[in-house]
Amino acid sequence: MRIIGIESSCDESAAAVIEDGRTICSNVVASQAEIHAKFGGIVPEIASRQHMITLIPVVQQALEEAGVKATELDGIAVTYGPGLAGSLLIGVNAAKGLALANELPFIGVNHLEGHIYASWLEGTDPEQGTGFPLMCLIASGGHTDLILMEGHGRYTLIGRTRDDAAGEAFDKAARVLGLGFPGGPAIQKASESSVGGEARFTRPNVKDSLDFSFSGLKSAVVRRAQEKHMYPPPEDSDLDPQEVANVAAAFQEAIVDCMVERTIAAARLHNVKGILLGGGVASNSLLRSEMSRRAPVEVIVPAPALCTDNGAMIGAAAFFHLRHGNRFQWDLDVVPNLRLG
Ligand code: KG4
Ligand code: ZN
Repeated sequence: MRIIGIESSCDESAAAVIEDGRTICSNVVASQAEIHAKFGGIVPEIASRQHMITLIPVVQQALEEAGVKATELDGIAVTYGPGLAGSLLIGVNAAKGLALANELPFIGVNHLEGHIYASWLEGTDPEQGTGFPLMCLIASGGHTDLILMEGHGRYTLIGRTRDDAAGEAFDKAARVLGLGFPGGPAIQKASESSVGGEARFTRPNVKDSLDFSFSGLKSAVVRRAQEKHMYPPPEDSDLDPQEVANVAAAFQEAIVDCMVERTIAAARLHNVKGILLGGGVASNSLLRSEMSRRAPVEVIVPAPALCTDNGAMIGAAAFFHLRHGNRFQWDLDVVPNLRLG
């Protein structure tokens, strides 16, 4: 069964042809990061207009690279939420048009579920590997959710961020340290040059809950940068790259520590067989290594390129919906605040 997965919820126009929910026949991602970098963050109207320009060529490229015609597909899948309303609309309408024109099933996919199903791609199969239940940490620019997955389509939200998402905190810290956008990869890269010695950031403590809170850490990095006269950026001199690297590393350690600690606590509490990571922040190398080092159970995490937004994960999730007989109507609307579990 071949499905094209289309993703346009944020600033990536992406499409991928996926066979039987697991094999990637093609995977095309057109990132708008450079366009939004000028503004220090995503500008929603620019994002949706850019999807208008790039999405159809991306879909065409995905079909060409997979060597299939639209008529040979078994379904058209698209993210319908959560995300930016204007951006989602472009993808959903393109998918409806494609499905209607080729008389194919149309499948709406929850973006967060897509991040989970990225772990079914490229030869891995958590169901056959560790088996259910799994504790999923989905950490992205808009979400930091702990989701208990007891089977296909069976989700319970166990914890979430009370304020900022982890990716948002990475993006803010990078902006303050003059490292540009998107912040996560920039903080990770800068941290590699750290020589240590930077004072530890206090870990936020959300008592009696498995929720996260990152806004305190975000404010702490701003204060630290102000104390060191790094922020606002001095007009007459450049920032000391060594100092930036040291602060970036201390921040990364703190935020990773919070995510690892909470996820492992949730995993123990629910007695899961494995921990699954997904979302852009899951491409962070320290998070990946620390989670694997400290977790009491196996950690499943997709390749970094499948953690950030892509169409392959949407095609993978859609396969399981189609297999379960789930059908979506033509009047499916976008749901910017869609939740999972
Ligand atoms: O899942 P994603 O691609 O888009 C959303 O659904 O939001 O996640 C984007 C977020 C951004 O905040 C970005 O800074 C962060 O993921 N990110 C990272 C890394 N790569 C991307 N954060 C930490 N370390 C990384 N290597
Ligand atoms: Zn995402």
